[in-house]
Amino acid sequence: MSEIKRIGVMTGGGDCPGLNAVIRAVTKTAILKYGLEVVGIKHGYRGLYLGGDQFVNLELTDVTGIISKGGTILYSSNKDNLFDYTYIDEFGQEQRGDVSDVGVENLKKAGIDALIVIGGDGTLTSGRDFSRKGVKVIGVPKTIDNDLASTDTTFGFDTAVSTATMSIDRLRTTAESHSRIIVVEVMGRYAGWIALASGIAGGCDAILIPEIPYDINKVAEAIKKNRARGKDFAIVVVAEGAKPKDGEVMVSKIIENSPDPVRLGGIGAFVADQLEGLVGLEARATILGHVQRGGTPTANDRILSTRYGSYAVELLMQGKFGNMVTLNGNKMSYDSLENVIGENKNVDPDNDWVQAARSIDICFGD
Ligand code: F6P
Repeated sequence: MSEIKRIGVMTGGGDCPGLNAVIRAVTKTAILKYGLEVVGIKHGYRGLYLGGDQFVNLELTDVTGIISKGGTILYSSNKDNLFDYTYIDEFGQEQRGDVSDVGVENLKKAGIDALIVIGGDGTLTSGRDFSRKGVKVIGVPKTIDNDLASTDTTFGFDTAVSTATMSIDRLRTTAESHSRIIVVEVMGRYAGWIALASGIAGGCDAILIPEIPYDINKVAEAIKKNRARGKDFAIVVVAEGAKPKDGEVMVSKIIENSPDPVRLGGIGAFVADQLEGLVGLEARATILGHVQRGGTPTANDRILSTRYGSYAVELLMQGKFGNMVTLNGNKMSYDSLENVIGENKNVDPDNDWVQAARSIDICFGD
């Protein structure tokens, strides 16, 4: 007989399309297949620390109809690491330190036997650390950036790429009407997956990604070559983490109290200005920003989220704690949280996506 009777589920880090679909799959699998009770922990690890009304029972009715809903019904936080947490002590003084024992105690008080954490590297790092403290944890990989190691695809990526592609389609008609260069800046942190995928799907002239530092002159030459062939406009997609061969990434903001304080941004406008001068066409920059994280998940993300959520419960029931659910070659699998953390999955500059893009003369600026 399994000792798991009551499980907790939480979402941490930046939101991402498909979170609700995972919560739904976890809840339905747990209740309908295994007769478990499910507790949703609101606001990620902050809710775990606060306890009380942050812990809510999830019934089937709570997850009905949420598969198509963006965001997370459990809310999220990307600042709260209980192993290095800022809190107010009993004397009203601000303190910073390890309060993870409070989280463990709150799980015990609520009778929660195991925890499913849905998040990116920050959330999963804490998941690993709670696992080291003896909490029965399973991780589910979330991020639009698709940069988590051990899994082929994170849920949310497909939706972000679809949103970016749809935006590029819209920008194309205005670029064409005015014979302009439009530079589209997309998210992705230090990985170029969103830029690469949407740049191919959107039929862009150039794709600039962190993994292939660019020379702006090469990009300008490519646009000029396309002009000579009769195309009097251009679309360039640039990842927020892209950088010139002789330069650094552009930082838009530092969030002091975040475990991952650097926010990238600004490269799109920089590239547009340079191209305007070098090519002699008017240029504009569009930053897609958080629109890539919002809204309803694609069918593929809903399916992937459902597979991840239900498989996470299977792993719990099999006693395979301390692991993250993974997708490997279209099969569900798992890997230790110890292996997943600290490893970024970047675009291999020689992969077949890049090769296919090069074959159709998309410029990477190298
Ligand atoms: O990791 C997801 C992501 O959207 C990145 O692509 C982006 O760099 C970052 O989060 C933005 O973070 P925030 O929501 O704190 O601005």
